Amino acid sequence: MRTQVAIIGAGPAGLTLGRLLECAGIDAVILERRSAGHVLSRIRAGVLEQGSADLLERIGVGGRMRREGIPHDGVELSFDGDMLRIDFHGLIGRKVMIYGQTEVTRDLMDARNASGARTIYEAEDVSLHDVRGGAPRVRFVKDGGLHEITCDFIAGCDGFHGITRASVPDKAIRTFERVYPFGWLGVLVDKPPVADELIYAHHERGFALCSMRSHTRSRYYVQVDAGETVDAWPDERFWDELRRRLNPEIAERLQTGPSIEKSIAPLRSFVAEPLRFGRLFLAGDAAHIVPPTGAKGLNMALRDVGILAEALVEHYEAKSDAGIDAYSQRVLAHTWKTERFSWWMTSLLHTFPETGRFGRRIQRAEFDYLASSRSAQESLAENYTGLPDA
Ligand code: APR
Ligand code: PHB
Repeated sequence: MRTQVAIIGAGPAGLTLGRLLECAGIDAVILERRSAGHVLSRIRAGVLEQGSADLLERIGVGGRMRREGIPHDGVELSFDGDMLRIDFHGLIGRKVMIYGQTEVTRDLMDARNASGARTIYEAEDVSLHDVRGGAPRVRFVKDGGLHEITCDFIAGCDGFHGITRASVPDKAIRTFERVYPFGWLGVLVDKPPVADELIYAHHERGFALCSMRSHTRSRYYVQVDAGETVDAWPDERFWDELRRRLNPEIAERLQTGPSIEKSIAPLRSFVAEPLRFGRLFLAGDAAHIVPPTGAKGLNMALRDVGILAEALVEHYEAKSDAGIDAYSQRVLAHTWKTERFSWWMTSLLHTFPETGRFGRRIQRAEFDYLASSRSAQESLAENYTGLPDA
């Protein structure tokens, strides 16, 4: 089999890249280890920056998002029950769009099925060959048979645990990592959200987040210690803990019900450098991870593949490799700023084993500073709604 770009992974990064290339008339094949159903069963964040929503519109998959997504003008922060609204629209004239990653993935898959573009699901044992040479190859096993794709480029969109980054020799890559000593326990419930906007709450018992998927489906999280298991958190315990971490009037309004999904996600900051190795490019979670505070993971993935698609189009159409040569540096410049913001929001809102009394006062001072300073709020607003490309 031959294609121009072999894309490994059919998460949001791989599917969006596939669509961008399709729109530009560049042939690509996507290889995905799991089934389409499994990819769609993963519940992830649901906040799109304006730039991400615009990108989805541009590649013709924005219709349902436009109809069913909920534009938000701001978010609420809560510190020991004291509320502070950050009015993105009033401060800097920007908004975000509430629309689940699962829905983005579904829309991209539907568009790909409709156009007949090739996706090979349940592709096992994917391996990369001759990445540094002129004609890289990708091998995989499907239905027991070994197959090979020859291509011009490989896009590593296979997430944090994928094989593309792992295929790079240790001496050619540097990684930077911080693992947080806690996770987020998330619950999905078919009840209307407790508030019109998201609420990010700091409490001495730990962080909590009130989010939503629609006007009738809510997503809530509480910070739990690393190593906690879902079994230890029956619904009642979850709701009690969430209420305790919120402002009492909001806790009173919370509508609870049986959870339709419950899972624990660890928190990690991670960056690989560089992001290009010969004809292999890393994008999305394969390249970097942020803790979910700030909802940047999906947005970073979309930005990466936007930059990568531009570079590949330039290669094929303008016969220039300037974009390809600049890919790593361009993505990393943005990545590190977003890493900083996600780390900062995580640091402000969570309780850490080492925080101590001094640290808590500093967190409170940070919140009070935000409450009193328009420039601090503008800074939060521009980061949350998405920084412009470097
Ligand atoms: N071979 C083929 N596919 C693989 C392999 C492999 N060896 N390893 C992983 N994959 C697939 C996974 O099954 C998954 O469907 O790659 C895909 C990667 O998708 P994501 O993990 O969703 O990563 P990405 O597309 O970069 O999207 C980033 O997703 O993880 C969230 O918070 C993150 O919102 C962010 C977004
Ligand atoms: C979510 O809705 O799942 C969500 C929203 C905002 C975040 C993280 C997760 O920062």
